[in-house]
Amino acid sequence: MNSKIIDGKKISLERKELLKEKVAKLKKKLTLAVVSVGDNPASRVYVGQKEKMAYEVGYNFKNLHFDTISTDDLIKEIKKLNDDDSVTGIIVQLPLPENLDKDRILNTVLPNKDVDGLTNINLLKLVKNESSLLPCTPKGVMTLIDSYNIDLIGKKVVIVGRSELVGLPLFHLLLHRNATVTLCHSKTKDLKSYTKDADILIVAVGKKGLISKDMVKDGSIIIDVGINRVDGKLYGDVDADAIDKSLLMTPVPGGVGPMTVISLMENVYETGTK
Ligand SMILES: NC(=O)c1ccc[n+]([C@@H]2O[C@H](COP(=O)([O-])OP(=O)(O)OC[C@H]3O[C@@H](n4cnc5c(N)ncnc54)[C@H](OP(=O)(O)O)[C@@H]3O)[C@@H](O)[C@H]2O)c1
Repeated sequence: MNSKIIDGKKISLERKELLKEKVAKLKKKLTLAVVSVGDNPASRVYVGQKEKMAYEVGYNFKNLHFDTISTDDLIKEIKKLNDDDSVTGIIVQLPLPENLDKDRILNTVLPNKDVDGLTNINLLKLVKNESSLLPCTPKGVMTLIDSYNIDLIGKKVVIVGRSELVGLPLFHLLLHRNATVTLCHSKTKDLKSYTKDADILIVAVGKKGLISKDMVKDGSIIIDVGINRVDGKLYGDVDADAIDKSLLMTPVPGGVGPMTVISLMENVYETGTK
């Protein structure tokens, strides 16, 4: 294994074993419920991964799937899960079909069952650095950073992508850890002038080849969150040869992806044992 690789697969497997041991000691069985709508093929894969991992860790798993449903009816279904004491954590699989009111639906989930950390209440707690269930991908990125003992204090961190799912929560999490953080997006002018200056570059956009080798700083740490499927193969947002210039870099696949799923499982444990 290339010593420059940040091995998310390995870290996630180690954490899974630790979690399994902790779950085995619990007196009650925890249950993860996933709510999904429509027939997005990628979503089907992601729900399948969550189901597999949930059972491996020792949880019950419930998938409430609807081919079509209205916002109001979906909210009623989520409220039933909120009221069901046997359900520990709830996630709404994204993306939802365009016709549904994503914000209302996500914010129906009780904050203490919100294992995806996407309710307004949990996001606000994150911004204010209060303890909360963290969104899974940002949590996974922070776990990778800590697993590799990456020092953040005073470091120039550049994040490309400002979604509520990834870039925006990461901005706050890194700021709380005293990094100097810049958040770039589609309107950023001269992206390269930012990325080339980054000690730590985190990219979460969803565009293969957005960041080429000449756009990264020598000796930098690169965390590629992007997942782009081209002809059945997965690519990140950063060209793979950027690893030549980096100190450390996540591969795609096998970097951030596995960390997202284990972070979800850790959130279920966290909320189920409070
Ligand atoms: N590894 C994992 O577990 C995991 C988990 C979640 C997501 N992902 C992947 O991460 C990627 C991002 O996901 P997301 O949900 O955050 O996507 P998103 O909601 O579509 O957000 C994309 C972000 O990228 C920005 N952007 C678009 N084009 C850009 C450009 N040319 N230069 C700079 N910024 C640009 C957008 O800017 P504006 O805000 O200005 O539009 C937006 O902030 C996707 O590939 C997704 O599949 C991976």
